[in-house]
Amino acid sequence: MSQIAALHSFRPTVSPSSLHVRSSRHSVRIRSQSASASSSSSTCSRDGDRWSLHGKTALVTGGTRGIGRAIVEELAGFGARVHTCSRSDTELNRCLREWGSEGLAVTGSICDASVRDERLELIETVSSFFGGKLNILINNVGTNIRKPTVEVSHEEFSRLMSTNFESIFHLCQLAHPLLKASGMGSIVFTSSVSGFVSLKSMAVQGATKGAINQFTRSLACEWAKDNIRSNAVAPWYIKTSMVEQVLSNEEYLEEVYSRTPLQRLGDPRDVSSLVAFLCLPASSYITGQIICVDGGMSVNGFDPRHDIPRS
Ligand SMILES: NC(=O)c1ccc[n+]([C@@H]2O[C@H](COP(=O)([O-])OP(=O)(O)OC[C@H]3O[C@@H](n4cnc5c(N)ncnc54)[C@H](OP(=O)(O)O)[C@@H]3O)[C@@H](O)[C@H]2O)c1
Repeated sequence: MSQIAALHSFRPTVSPSSLHVRSSRHSVRIRSQSASASSSSSTCSRDGDRWSLHGKTALVTGGTRGIGRAIVEELAGFGARVHTCSRSDTELNRCLREWGSEGLAVTGSICDASVRDERLELIETVSSFFGGKLNILINNVGTNIRKPTVEVSHEEFSRLMSTNFESIFHLCQLAHPLLKASGMGSIVFTSSVSGFVSLKSMAVQGATKGAINQFTRSLACEWAKDNIRSNAVAPWYIKTSMVEQVLSNEEYLEEVYSRTPLQRLGDPRDVSSLVAFLCLPASSYITGQIICVDGGMSVNGFDPRHDIPRS
């Protein structure tokens, strides 16, 4: 589509003649706008295309439980072909059987995402399954070690860094050619509210999530030229196996509710619906954003339980 025709379909009120009087600097900006208008008008011409992942391919790390599992099911439900991984073959095989019986197009690999060689193998598998093209990369694997900072050992520090940050950095590097080849890539990171606010005994884990947040923004700018978007979701407490133990303490749970304006825990599907939206063509102008899924926890200021009597 020519520059003028593309702009015309994008903003019909602009007359073609008005384009000729713009400076050359401005016309460069128009050209790039036309490119996106042209691609959006060809790929999203009907509402169904904007809200569908049919024909798209996705890799979700850590997809057998919790948030990752909900993401696998949400993306497959929107029509994507999904590949996932976990460290337990028993659990992965059980999930694959269940997804198969539900008619969801999901495949899987055993992979410890914190191990470099296993990441290399995972991306090789994904590349051969999906013909060298990947539309969606969900960097979901993460871990937590709750300890006061002075008690964190060197080994624990390394485990947090390698699982939560080095692994996602390397997977992005490895997946870049596949995402670029797809022509329309989307990366979503599972961050945490701990990347924004202080949570007790989680200074190092919070630092890894803060690193993810800045990496999200930097990749959004660096890889925009390859039509790869980069966003993150930042949950507060979501009912999963990771936090089962800490939330089994009733007093602790009460404190969680008191800090959460919506007064409840999140469900994995509260996160997966946002992740799916960030992968859909409908969100194709959103990049570099970190969105909290937290019942309002991160914006909660001072809300005393006791009202001061009015005079
Ligand atoms: N739940 C929350 O309240 C919460 C809040 C904020 C952020 N998050 C973040 O959300 C993400 C998912 O957490 P979740 O609560 O859903 O955890 P989860 O219930 O423990 O599930 C984790 C999933 O990832 C897999 N996994 C874990 N480590 C892995 C590794 N090294 N390599 C490959 N697969 C691995 C697990 O399977 P295997 O164990 O079999 O490998 C499982 O499928 C994490 O990044 C976490 O930091 C969670």
